[in-house]
Amino acid sequence: MSLVSRQYHLERRPHGIPELDCFGLVERTLDAPGHGELLVRNEWLSVDPYMRGRMVDQKSYIPPFELNQPMDGAAVGVILESGDERFAPGDRISHFAGWRDLAVINADTANRIDTAAPPQAYLGPLGFPGLAAYAGLLRLGSPKPGETVFVSAAAGAVGSVVAQIAKIKGCRVIGSSGSDEKLAWLRDEIGVDAVINYRKVPDLTAALREAAPNGIDVYFDNVGGGHLEAAIEVANEFARFTLCGMIEQYNIEPSGPRNIMAVIGKSIRLEGMIVTNFLDMWEDFQRDVTGWIDGGKLKWQETVVDGLENMPAAFIDLFAGKNSGKMLVKLSD
Ligand SMILES: NC(=O)c1ccc[n+]([C@@H]2O[C@H](COP(=O)([O-])OP(=O)(O)OC[C@H]3O[C@@H](n4cnc5c(N)ncnc54)[C@H](OP(=O)(O)O)[C@@H]3O)[C@@H](O)[C@H]2O)c1
Repeated sequence: MSLVSRQYHLERRPHGIPELDCFGLVERTLDAPGHGELLVRNEWLSVDPYMRGRMVDQKSYIPPFELNQPMDGAAVGVILESGDERFAPGDRISHFAGWRDLAVINADTANRIDTAAPPQAYLGPLGFPGLAAYAGLLRLGSPKPGETVFVSAAAGAVGSVVAQIAKIKGCRVIGSSGSDEKLAWLRDEIGVDAVINYRKVPDLTAALREAAPNGIDVYFDNVGGGHLEAAIEVANEFARFTLCGMIEQYNIEPSGPRNIMAVIGKSIRLEGMIVTNFLDMWEDFQRDVTGWIDGGKLKWQETVVDGLENMPAAFIDLFAGKNSGKMLVKLSD
């Protein structure tokens, strides 16, 4: 049987917001899986802001995408053929050969999905976005009951989990987003205490000060730029800042917060994080988040885009805030 995979290649490196012609959909014939390999048909592809960083040719915590080579990322699929005794055809797995429909992968990189949650949840609240939220808030932010937590991009895959865990831990939560509809979900569905539409307020610092009259103790940063500056301004002494992402800066020449010196005077702890450095928390994370989902304490939203051919557009749409919750591409059979 000849196996043809349709896969995306990065054909040119973007400057500013990526354009559709940066991506090429290419057909490649695959070899049948050998010993220790799996043939997998992808069902769900994860669409993530961090992939923008991989489009730049620079050394980082994860290698950049090479031009004219298959792109990758998190995905969920079903095994068609197995060359490894740990897996059988029909098993559903999460793995890292995204941006394509069919893949032959090393079985060591596959994780079986065998719980009751929908499989795509393993790309969202039960996957790396969820772990980033759990570890970044609990280990780095160390929130205490009664403290005030501010989270940016609060209606997104990471932010919405941060907001809910902070509520579960007894904190007062302030969330920002660029959409009134998303803010209504945060306030009405998951009980966020105060919301800010950063696109509408004339002065983000003033809006944050009004939402947090007693200051903020924890800031979970998904946005950087003006959000980080406002958070430093309104932070209390000994506040903890988790620097998870800075999406505002991904498509522009980055600039630092002008009030960075206040970090000294307020003894603020700023800590950057990469989710894969927190794999020691995986079991606790799975247990807690599964329990919160089962107990109705943790909800999530998905924006589902149909068809592999729409993957680049879905990726670009992240930077226009077109997703509510986790951005996913669904592939047909
Ligand atoms: N460090 C790690 O290991 C790690 C792991 C996962 C994710 N991250 C980072 O965490 C952040 C959130 O990721 P995610 O997967 O949960 O994405 P997401 O929040 O689900 O989607 C991105 C959201 O960012 C907001 N946004 C886009 N452009 C913006 C801008 N110029 N200014 C302000 N907000 C903007 C939009 O929401 P609005 O409509 O509300 O503007 C958009 O929906 C990203 O920065 C990502 O890189 C880091």
